[in-house]
Amino acid sequence: MEKTIDFINGKTNGFKPEIGIVLGSGLGELADEYCDIAISYNDIPGFVKSTVVGHKGRLVFADIRGKNVVMMQGRNHFYEGHDLKDITFPIKVMKELGVKTLILTNAAGAVNETFKPADLMIITDHINFMGKNPLIGPNDNTLGERFPDMSEVYNKDLIEIAEKCANNLGIDIQKGVYWANSGPSYETPAEINMIRMLGGDAVGMSTVPEAIVANYCKMNILGISCITNAAASALNGRKLSHEEVIEAANKAKVRFKALILEIINQI
Ligand code: HPA
Repeated sequence: MEKTIDFINGKTNGFKPEIGIVLGSGLGELADEYCDIAISYNDIPGFVKSTVVGHKGRLVFADIRGKNVVMMQGRNHFYEGHDLKDITFPIKVMKELGVKTLILTNAAGAVNETFKPADLMIITDHINFMGKNPLIGPNDNTLGERFPDMSEVYNKDLIEIAEKCANNLGIDIQKGVYWANSGPSYETPAEINMIRMLGGDAVGMSTVPEAIVANYCKMNILGISCITNAAASALNGRKLSHEEVIEAANKAKVRFKALILEIINQI
């Protein structure tokens, strides 16, 4: 960690971000438009490099609406074969850099039948179905507790701010529970029915490990999913592809960017 922080501070001149954002599939454009300093994950000690198409793999620092922001343009996933500890290391780095508020974004499939592709959903809670937890292993008591409370992972005040911002912008916003699977295969119709019965509204392959670690480090978390597709049981015989997911995220990105900018303004 010390080596990582020294390296980053050397590149950024000690820039102190207060807001961190993880930009999911197809949502990385914000970090192209607002980019004062960018560092490739490949160059940062302790970071693993991103392999998914549509993910850039850069840590981007910028002043956005008068706030110091650090963005992860692309993230690493469990399904790539990485350990959850490695995937969530950048969250601990952001905490160490001074980030207090973390905005996690992702692309997700709709489980709730009232959701449509290109909808945005504020995450109210999550269900970890990845079969693993990033906090397994020896605990570093300087970062957080051995048995962290999880009763309010997604900050209620931030949810309220996000809802207000959406209303001000005239953006229809959904709220719901994000269910995390390991991936990389999408879900079967039977799995989607199970997720729905067990309380999931949207399903994806990321975010939850980051939220667990950020909650453990006592960061205030806001989660936003971009609904990119009807989940398997609602596809009516059509097949789901990664291209369809990216296309829907692209369709939502103007609204998504406007919402994130307004939220940064209001935090
Ligand atoms: N399932 C899992 N992850 C996803 C989906 C999905 O339908 N869409 C985008 N990410």
